[in-house]
Amino acid sequence: MRKLLVMGNWKLNGTKETVSELIKAFAAAADKAGSKAEVAICAPAIFIGQVEALAKGSRLNYGSEDCDIHTKGAFTGENSPAMIKEFGCKYAIVGHSERRGYHKESSGYVAEKFKAAQDNGLVPVLCIGESEADFDAGRTMDVCKEELKAVIDLCGIKAFENAVIAYEPIWAIGTGKTATPEIAEGVHSKIRAYLKTFDAAVADKVQILYGGSCNAKTAPELFKQPDIDGGLIGGASLKVPDFTSIIETAVSLSK
Ligand code: 13P
Repeated sequence: MRKLLVMGNWKLNGTKETVSELIKAFAAAADKAGSKAEVAICAPAIFIGQVEALAKGSRLNYGSEDCDIHTKGAFTGENSPAMIKEFGCKYAIVGHSERRGYHKESSGYVAEKFKAAQDNGLVPVLCIGESEADFDAGRTMDVCKEELKAVIDLCGIKAFENAVIAYEPIWAIGTGKTATPEIAEGVHSKIRAYLKTFDAAVADKVQILYGGSCNAKTAPELFKQPDIDGGLIGGASLKVPDFTSIIETAVSLSK
């Protein structure tokens, strides 16, 4: 059975003070959840050392919001997966729509990031999802398949044995327009069916998170859906009561 995973993505937010407050609270919530749910925070790279120190000895996992494709070298401003791993990260988000959009990252480039993360012992969290125009045109699965296929082509389907997928419709991110549980489940089940055409066991095992205005109010109905295995949470992961409540929802629905 797939465990529910509640993962925060802080994006470009935080100060030393808020990192300290949030990580202390979320480490306690992760410990309270025990083995009933998995909890993680993906933080801006500059705060990861601080997160490492604060999360030490707790069940709270953490990760980066991105990573470079290189291990080291003359790539000013980048963070390599090897560096991220050295600071105790479990996860690395790759292909977030904000990076695909603002930084013009193609699906092929995202696949290289996925591979680099995995080659360095990190669990990649592959973000996929369509724009509002694609949603309106009924192209949701075309976009999701193209973004998944780039990784399958480069890394093979078995790579998803040790990865997480986050379906994040771009129209739902930071807009307050959460996808309805029916819409989200419809896409999640189609993503799983698509993966099944390559390998049924891998498709059955991989956690598929929902992201996009997922909050304390919307998480319960979303997490009840059979193919939704938790959430990738932006805004609500910056607030102690909201994110803690989402963790408690996951515990109460523990599969
Ligand atoms: P919001 O939860 O703020 O909509 O952000 C979702 C997201 O992009 C998580 O990666």
